[in-house]
Amino acid sequence: MDKRLFFSATRKNRDCIGDVLSGIIRKKGSILEIGSGSGEHGVFFQKRFSGIVWQASDPNLVYRKSISSWIDYEKLNKIMPQPLYIDVEKIPWKIPSQLAYSLQGVVSINMIHVAEWTCTIALFREAGKLLKEGQFLMLYGPFKIGNNYTSKSNYYFDNSLKMQNDLWGMRNVEEVSNEAQKNGFVQEDLISMPSNNFSIIYRKFSY
Ligand SMILES: C[S@@+](CC[C@H](N)C(=O)[O-])C[C@H]1O[C@@H](n2cnc3c(N)ncnc32)[C@H](O)[C@@H]1O
Repeated sequence: MDKRLFFSATRKNRDCIGDVLSGIIRKKGSILEIGSGSGEHGVFFQKRFSGIVWQASDPNLVYRKSISSWIDYEKLNKIMPQPLYIDVEKIPWKIPSQLAYSLQGVVSINMIHVAEWTCTIALFREAGKLLKEGQFLMLYGPFKIGNNYTSKSNYYFDNSLKMQNDLWGMRNVEEVSNEAQKNGFVQEDLISMPSNNFSIIYRKFSY
């Protein structure tokens, strides 16, 4: 049965996120996506970067079913694996050894503001253990910079998030990057994206 979900933002942001990824993804290897949601990004990027393996994940079963349905619908079964259950806070993340071996980066799109701050901490801690020197972690979403909103609409959006859950909310880039640094990442790039969003590229460095 078709269990595909459709998240409207994915159609608007997938090309520009893909353009950022095209600058950092190498030709081969695997990418682990955390908080994949509907799976629309996953199948889109699997098709755009056909030499790599896009490993989607989500803690939500309904979303994992949607991801599987999207994989079927796009006839990607032979190259794209089924989604993993990963809740960033349930550590260690259970990932196949082949994925760990071939991993070149971790991507998380629109996740950390719809999760508690402890999820950001867990994301960097676990990704920091998985990734090796030179590999990347990319975040995409709305952020505050210097504790300021970058637009009025982001201010309203943040308030709406906090009304749904007072532990959710738009994160401050400096605090996120501080967490990154604690786990061996350096902020390599902060890229302004359409609709007042940002992509942040973190790169694992050696101590
Ligand atoms: C706003 S949705 C974004 C989904 C998708 N990345 C997108 O951009 O369309 C947030 C996603 O974060 C996931 N998420 C929330 N808490 C999480 C956690 N603790 N660990 C991993 N993912 C989580 C949700 O299940 C959901 O798929």
